[in-house]
Amino acid sequence: MKKGLIVLVVLVVLGLLLPVSNLLRAAPENSLTKVKPADPAKARVFAMLGAKCADCHSGEGVLPFYAKLPVIGGQIQQDIRVARQRLDYQAELTAAPDKPAGEVLLAKTEAELLAGDMPPLPYLALHWNARLSAEDKAAALNWIRAERAQHYATAGVAAQFVNDAVQPLPEKMDLDARKVALGNKLFHDKRLSKDNTLSCASCHDLAKGGTDQVQFSTGVGQKVGGINSPTVFNSAFQFIMFWDGRAPHLEAQADGPVNNPIEMASNWGEAIPKLQQDAELTAAFNAVYPQGYSKETITEAIAMFERSLLTPSRFDAFLRGKSDALTADEQRGYTLFKAHNCACCHAGKILGGQSFELMGREADYIADRGQPTDADLGRYSVTKNEGDRHKFKVPTLRNIAITFPYLHDGATRDLKQVVQLMAKYQSGAKLSEADADSLVAFLKALTGTLDGKPLGK
Ligand code: HEC
Ligand code: HEC
Ligand code: HEC
Repeated sequence: MKKGLIVLVVLVVLGLLLPVSNLLRAAPENSLTKVKPADPAKARVFAMLGAKCADCHSGEGVLPFYAKLPVIGGQIQQDIRVARQRLDYQAELTAAPDKPAGEVLLAKTEAELLAGDMPPLPYLALHWNARLSAEDKAAALNWIRAERAQHYATAGVAAQFVNDAVQPLPEKMDLDARKVALGNKLFHDKRLSKDNTLSCASCHDLAKGGTDQVQFSTGVGQKVGGINSPTVFNSAFQFIMFWDGRAPHLEAQADGPVNNPIEMASNWGEAIPKLQQDAELTAAFNAVYPQGYSKETITEAIAMFERSLLTPSRFDAFLRGKSDALTADEQRGYTLFKAHNCACCHAGKILGGQSFELMGREADYIADRGQPTDADLGRYSVTKNEGDRHKFKVPTLRNIAITFPYLHDGATRDLKQVVQLMAKYQSGAKLSEADADSLVAFLKALTGTLDGKPLGK
């Protein structure tokens, strides 16, 4: 009886002492509260994130004294690790505070604000002034809306979709048609490979959704790679290149396969003299690039060609206001796609290509699959940051019905199965058969046309 009373008193005292100690703590100061973006609406959001979110979603959180206690301390460290791995507001926002915030950051933040899950309850129990007020929420949601309208809404998007995380493709790209035409030739030129057997198109076949539709590509000398080849379609909108982001843009990317021993196994010193023997191509090339062939000029032309590969679909017509462009089932699929937060990661004009995300957030995908490889390391192989292990650039979902097999490991050719894997490992949702079918119907509607010709026919 007496013991029980003492425990009770200790609990009550702790229950008051900890939150009160947090209340008395000086208002947090960190780079989110210090940096002042020029836009006052954005500055207000920065101040809120700095005061109420930065303890977990940044590297500058101030740990309370009880973070050193055994059990509770471990939980706090774990929360911070997970929170930063998912979204580090300081890292994403403070380096260039006046740059538009990323589409994925906006989408994730909007979803959490609407769900009302942040900050987490245990944190609120101990930080009484961290609760988001109605004004906080409205200010943040309005800022997200304004940021999207200003920087991300595609010209011509229907009014009701201006604030969607997913946007239609633009109607055309502003490109030098002569460079595009040269790039098209070079993309299909086998002389860029050591033994003249492979072109870029061998593994990125325009008739196969810009991929080779095999689990792992075969390079020069029958060498087989260890990671699935992604599509080159719509790659103008990829924020970085490769699954692990090791090339910053298309120009840098195009240098990779030529020199890669398990892809084209060549180098520019070998390839350029072969091109020079082609009088017709060389004359056309020199007319556009008076400086002649070089790594820079060739990769630029190829990159221009890749930027021209837009594949608008019925979904784009739908987002532009043609409400019967999608069937009722496909529209249901799009609603589910947003409701299950698929659109938080698969955001933007190509439904992906804007961020690195952990593959296996809700359960350990790699452990469940077995036989880990170096290709599974993902972004970690570039940064060597533990938090980047198994993070991959989110793939685009445009033309997904014809870019099988799926995932970095090419684990399955079955679109419904990959949708179920995503629900389980990424969204933490259990999909009914009917919902999985509607999602698949929606994804199939993303198969587009290239230069007016339907793909995948
Ligand atoms: C106590 C630590 C903590 C605080 C404080 C906190 N979060 Fe989180 N946050 C987490 C954790 C842990 C997760 C991942 C697990 C989950 O979603 O519950 C998360 C997830 C999120 C996500 C989803 C990220 C993704 O990749 O899906 C967003 C967005 C988010 N938080 C925003 C906020 C905002 C905005 C605030 C401040 C108002 C905030 N959080 C405060 C710990 C925190
Ligand atoms: C032997 C097959 C093969 C050849 C040949 C090849 N690629 Fe690739 N390509 C791949 C694979 C596999 C990847 C993914 C590698 C990774 O992410 O680590 C890739 C990735 C890419 C990407 C990145 C797409 C993205 O979203 O990140 C682009 C762009 C690309 N290749 C263009 C080219 C160009 C241009 C050429 C010719 C100069 C070329 N590829 C030749 C197999 C090939
Ligand atoms: C947390 C971010 C995140 C969420 C949420 C998410 N995905 Fe993904 N998605 C990814 C990543 C990362 C990959 C690549 C994983 C890999 O290759 O191992 C991927 C891959 C895919 C692929 C295969 C693409 C390809 O070309 O191989 C499909 C299809 C897909 N997601 C659909 C969905 C659907 C449908 C949902 C919602 C139920 C969803 N995703 C939710 C991040 C996410």
